[in-house]
Amino acid sequence: MMRQEALYSGKAKTVYKTDEPDKLIMEFRDSLTAFDGKKKSEAKGKGYYNAQISATLLQLLGENGIKTHFDSMLSDTEMIVDSVEIVLIEVIVRNIAAGSLTKKYPFKTGDKLDPPIIIFDYKNDQFGDPMINDDMALAMGLATKAELAEIRKLALRINSILIEYLAERNLLLPDFKLEFGRRKGKIVLADEISCDTCRFWDRTTGESLDKDVFRFDKGDLVAAYREVAKRIVPGVRL
Ligand code: TMP
Ligand code: ASP
Repeated sequence: MMRQEALYSGKAKTVYKTDEPDKLIMEFRDSLTAFDGKKKSEAKGKGYYNAQISATLLQLLGENGIKTHFDSMLSDTEMIVDSVEIVLIEVIVRNIAAGSLTKKYPFKTGDKLDPPIIIFDYKNDQFGDPMINDDMALAMGLATKAELAEIRKLALRINSILIEYLAERNLLLPDFKLEFGRRKGKIVLADEISCDTCRFWDRTTGESLDKDVFRFDKGDLVAAYREVAKRIVPGVRL
């Protein structure tokens, strides 16, 4: 597989074309941002841990019957993925109140959310990723009614699979963000599932092992990402 020109460079990943029209390379970089890019940094090793965590979780979901864009790893930080048309909706699943939910609504950090809450945000930095509902998604032509229903169903299945896998590794999953794509007329899971896009809390101590360490200056980001990788990625380099 030959890496060709960059198609898109985001805040933490770069996507490249390849010599195979149907495949892309997603490179996990060491850069990171928070609060709509207002806070920026670099953390050596972060790209490696996020790539490995994402690969492990996408493969786990694949083994459990969820269609994903994951193909294989080209290197430590480069993932080969199927090319998909991204649905411009950020799907957030919340099991325990944290983050913006406790700022904008009367929830306290740690409140259990059972059944889980699914939130749709319009994926558009220019508008600050505003929360939308199904009617808004339909009015903006982001997805069809059937696709929205499918996305909701998949998000809940993914949530159950991840919660169980993480619990066995002494991790709680308060919330996370998913992105989906279209491929051959079907909805497939795309993007990443990593310490940048999930909240992971140590089940015993409640300690944050995710990007909140950076957002709220809670300590050593790479040490937190390494700890998650150590617990969930067999054979990861520490
Ligand atoms: P929030 O509490 O800041 O709304 O975040 C909810 C979850 O979504 C959290 O696990 C982090 C993730 N997330 C992203 O992956 N990208 C984003 O741009 C934001 C705001 C949150
Ligand atoms: N991903 C967003 C940013 O980089 C927000 C966040 O994760 O806090 O600005």
